[in-house]
Amino acid sequence: MQLFIDSADVAELRAVAASGLIDGVTTNPSLIAKSGRKMKDAIAEICSIIPGPVSAEAVATDMEGMLAEGRYLARIASNVVVKLPLTENGLRACRTLSDEGIRVNVTLCFSAVQALLAAKAGAYFISPFIGRLDDKGVDGMDLIRDIRRIYDNYGFATNILSASIRSVEHVRQAALAGSDCATLPPKTFAAMYKHELTDSGVEAFLKDWASTGQSIL
Ligand code: E4P
Repeated sequence: MQLFIDSADVAELRAVAASGLIDGVTTNPSLIAKSGRKMKDAIAEICSIIPGPVSAEAVATDMEGMLAEGRYLARIASNVVVKLPLTENGLRACRTLSDEGIRVNVTLCFSAVQALLAAKAGAYFISPFIGRLDDKGVDGMDLIRDIRRIYDNYGFATNILSASIRSVEHVRQAALAGSDCATLPPKTFAAMYKHELTDSGVEAFLKDWASTGQSIL
């Protein structure tokens, strides 16, 4: 499963990119606002840090506006993926941009039938929001499983990008459900390394090693 980072903070992204484990980045208007940067500059810098897909979201709600913003964003760098909301206009714009060879990430997906429509509109990524469904008392992971099954049933190539991930457990379940990618906040990515038995195991090995008085080099 590919791991993306959900952030527009370039310092944060440089730090996680050093792991060599990050396949892409997702941003949204809230994250751009939080960064305090001009969107074009932030996206250009992120694209230079991470060579994989970097999602940049359009904010227009009409189709012509989405097309204009999408084409503008796609020109910032060759690894930009245009993010559009799962609305009727968003899917019409998705069809047009996809036909032009621009990759589209259809975001704010909350149902399997929405995901079916996005695939039919040529979406490169579909972003089902797990955490926000969980917040409503619905098991967000059921949606990932449903989409996986539907896409496999009909051979849709659209990649499932599990979003609104809130925990390492979400990552585990998304991977088990066959999600192609997951986008995580940096702190959730950092938590993936962690296990108390790893920490106590290293501590015990080092203690025993010290008792030998040896050094490897
Ligand atoms: C993904 O593309 C979204 O930016 C993100 O995962 C939303 O997460 P949130 O529900 O925690 O805001």
